[in-house]
Amino acid sequence: MNPRRAYDAVARAYDEQLRDELRHKPLDRALLAALLEQAGDGTVADAGCGPGHVTRFLAARHPDVTGVDLSPAMVRIARDHAPALSFTVGSLLALPVRDAAWAGAVAMYSIIHLDPPERRTAFGELARAIRDDGPLLVAFHVEAAGVAAGETTHLSTWFGSEVAVDVHFLDPAEVTADLVAAGFTMAASLVREPVGAGEFPSRRAYLLARRTKR
Ligand SMILES: C[S@@+](CC[C@H](N)C(=O)[O-])C[C@H]1O[C@@H](n2cnc3c(N)ncnc32)[C@H](O)[C@@H]1O
Repeated sequence: MNPRRAYDAVARAYDEQLRDELRHKPLDRALLAALLEQAGDGTVADAGCGPGHVTRFLAARHPDVTGVDLSPAMVRIARDHAPALSFTVGSLLALPVRDAAWAGAVAMYSIIHLDPPERRTAFGELARAIRDDGPLLVAFHVEAAGVAAGETTHLSTWFGSEVAVDVHFLDPAEVTADLVAAGFTMAASLVREPVGAGEFPSRRAYLLARRTKR
């Protein structure tokens, strides 16, 4: 099962559990606000937006925000929550956008199902889509109890549904190297501990990069 089918299956439950999560995540909110400030005018994209709660946070603070996600069910829920916002079904591996169209982008936990070659393709696509100097914020799981950075786990049930999807726990140094190779310059890296109830208890990384000038 690819991530699209898995997320179509869990979309409703995922939305119910996570739609208010940013309320409990001041560091995430601060990084998203910093990204908006760095992006300035122009379109800011939520790449792998899921049910759109991060997109809505961005849209409340920026006039031009768009969401893209592989899962049609996720996109339907995102549109239901925010009919005035633009959401597109599309893949990080072939972003449905012209070169340098975006002032900046976030990819919050949307790279976690990509294997290393796919991750490099996705970063190449983000580098193509983001204009020179535009910011990119990438968030992902680093490690959790019994899972080290660089390991892959397999989910067969999730949110009460049967799924079959891999989750990659990633070493920030490797992801940084992939971002730089794709055409980004690193601006900041943060690794944080789990915030407590309501969040999968993983150590998480947030990498903030800028599109290197072409
Ligand atoms: C863990 S969820 C994160 C959703 C949201 N960004 C959040 O922070 O809650 C991962 C999302 O990435 C999407 N996704 C997975 N692979 C993708 C791909 N190749 N292109 C676009 N979206 C993808 C999934 O459909 C899912 O909505």
